[in-house]
Amino acid sequence: MADYTKKIMITGGAGFIGSHVARLFVKKYPQYLIVNLDALTYAGNLENLKDIESSDNYVFEKGDILDERFIAGLFEKYDFDAVIHLAAESHVDRSIIDPLAFVRTNVLGTASLLNTALQSWKGRLDGKLFYHVSTDEVYGSLGEEGFFTEETPYDPRSPYSASKASSDHFVMAYHHTYGLPVVLSNCSNNYGSHHFPEKLIPLMINNIRNKKSLPVYGKGANVRDWLYVEDHARAIDTIFHKGKNGEKYNIGGFNEWKNIDIVYLLCSIMDKKLGRPEGESAKLITFVKDRPGHDLRYAIDATKLNKELGWEPSLQFEEGLEKTVDWYLQNEDWIKHVTSGDYQRYYDVQYVK
Ligand code: NAD
Ligand code: TYD
Repeated sequence: MADYTKKIMITGGAGFIGSHVARLFVKKYPQYLIVNLDALTYAGNLENLKDIESSDNYVFEKGDILDERFIAGLFEKYDFDAVIHLAAESHVDRSIIDPLAFVRTNVLGTASLLNTALQSWKGRLDGKLFYHVSTDEVYGSLGEEGFFTEETPYDPRSPYSASKASSDHFVMAYHHTYGLPVVLSNCSNNYGSHHFPEKLIPLMINNIRNKKSLPVYGKGANVRDWLYVEDHARAIDTIFHKGKNGEKYNIGGFNEWKNIDIVYLLCSIMDKKLGRPEGESAKLITFVKDRPGHDLRYAIDATKLNKELGWEPSLQFEEGLEKTVDWYLQNEDWIKHVTSGDYQRYYDVQYVK
């Protein structure tokens, strides 16, 4: 193996955020070896990484974070200096249908990964790092006012957020009990390219293009704080290199939007881009049954990350949304493949020779 200054395992690197993190690290740090470990669930897609898959400092390993023997074998094979852990079940609506899948991957999977890292690094923890990527949803739901800070008590309300909160607690427990070097970040809702079309923004873009109804839960009054995915990847880069051992950092865009306002904005952007009369796509909006236990509002106070580590978001929402819409309009095949399961065939052609 070439002389890399760091060998890093990124878990979930074939997913939405993970692929942006992997791309950033592979391109920015040719002196690092990046090993992408991903089980390729429905949300994992190697097409997200086409532009870096033949880079010298990038390797893909297909496997499950729950498979202790396999993961321990990877630690032996690559002698990792760090783990950036993003692999997870990530969709709230799926967690309501199948909560135990979230317990398995997010809770057991994270605990298992922590355990394997600790065993593999036994007696030589200096300079090692376990970076856990988490969500603002662990803090629960806000009323009309206030922000989540790093001191806000955890109060998760969906099976997804409960499983992520539990994984965060295990990360801190491994730090306090066994001295595992860790950092943790809790980020607000992301948007951008390569986002699976089951989440609000890509689902609406896809449906607007196909003139399908736009299902808005309840009255569309729920508020989320949106951050461009490449800004999240940059924040992870900053925290990975400059974050303090044992600390957690909130990441957010100071960018709150009601769901219904986002849907109207997308309709208006896309009417222009698709040459439709203004107001045409908004006619597709349909108010549907609300999500059970639907959190009203999330809003992140990212002051600590800004003041202590100097990170700030780079894009205004409208600009980021335009770029996102352009990407989806230019990548119709990507949407077709992820919605038809073609990417599994892509994997077989690419890796199973
Ligand atoms: P995603 O669902 O797009 O990707 C998850 C990836 O993990 C997929 O590639 C999938 O194949 C892989 N994976 C799932 N189970 C696995 C397992 N058992 N073993 C190995 N790989 C497995 O998710 P995302 O939106 O990119 O989120 C990534 C991380 O960031 C998650 O931990 C999520 O909780 C967190 N997060 C997401 C957001 C957001 O807005 N999407 C915001 C804050 C934090
Ligand atoms: P989502 O993208 O699933 O992210 P999260 O639930 O993790 O915040 O949903 C964002 C918001 O959009 C949330 O308030 C639920 C709402 N929503 C809809 O109104 N319609 C939809 O079809 C989806 C998927 C979400």
